[in-house]
Amino acid sequence: MDDRLQNKLEDLSGLVIRKMTLQDLEQVVAIDQISFSLPWPVRSFQFELTDNEASRCWVADLDGRIVAMLVGWFIVDELHVATIATHPEFRGQGLGKSILLHALLAAREEGAIKSFLEVRESNEVAQKMYRDFGFVEDARRAGYYKDNGEDAILMSLDRLPGG
Ligand SMILES: CC(C)(COP(=O)(O)OP(=O)(O)OC[C@H]1O[C@@H](n2cnc3c(N)ncnc32)[C@H](O)[C@@H]1OP(=O)(O)O)[C@@H](O)C(=O)NCCC(=O)NCCS
Repeated sequence: MDDRLQNKLEDLSGLVIRKMTLQDLEQVVAIDQISFSLPWPVRSFQFELTDNEASRCWVADLDGRIVAMLVGWFIVDELHVATIATHPEFRGQGLGKSILLHALLAAREEGAIKSFLEVRESNEVAQKMYRDFGFVEDARRAGYYKDNGEDAILMSLDRLPGG
């Protein structure tokens, strides 16, 4: 194996996926801002953590550094993946898949049977990740994203992992 990759993989040994807390907010917002052209305001993450009972917020914590985050909404029997991002320095090492799997398994434990999400038409990396989980395209929302008028692809997963 390439030495650099070996080092990177070894560096992930302290990784824990856990619930997001208010103490994580600064790092979570930084990942959001660097990852999206329409980042959420800080108060949206605050709301998810303090007021929204449907929220299921997760972080991947590498020895105190937040390297990935996910916000989901648990609605009836579905987990809506509202946002997910990996810090750019840590992409391509399985963190996106790990935090998504964790969120889906935790939702299944709570009784969810399905999941759905929206993704930009141009976001092929994320679409591939979702397809690898079994998400399929259901529909499109024309001009959904306000910054560039891009379409959203609606994807759903009918059977959660392990279900
Ligand atoms: C989408 C995102 C969360 C994936 O996170 P990640 O930690 O890099 O993901 P992983 O390393 O677990 O890779 C997951 C899958 O994504 C795909 N992928 C990752 N990097 C890729 C690349 N450079 N090119 C193509 N596909 C890629 C692959 O399918 C990969 O699975 P594989 O390694 O088994 O082939 C990350 O790219 C990101 O934060 N993007 C910006 C925010 C975003 O677009 N979020 C999704 C909004 S809907």
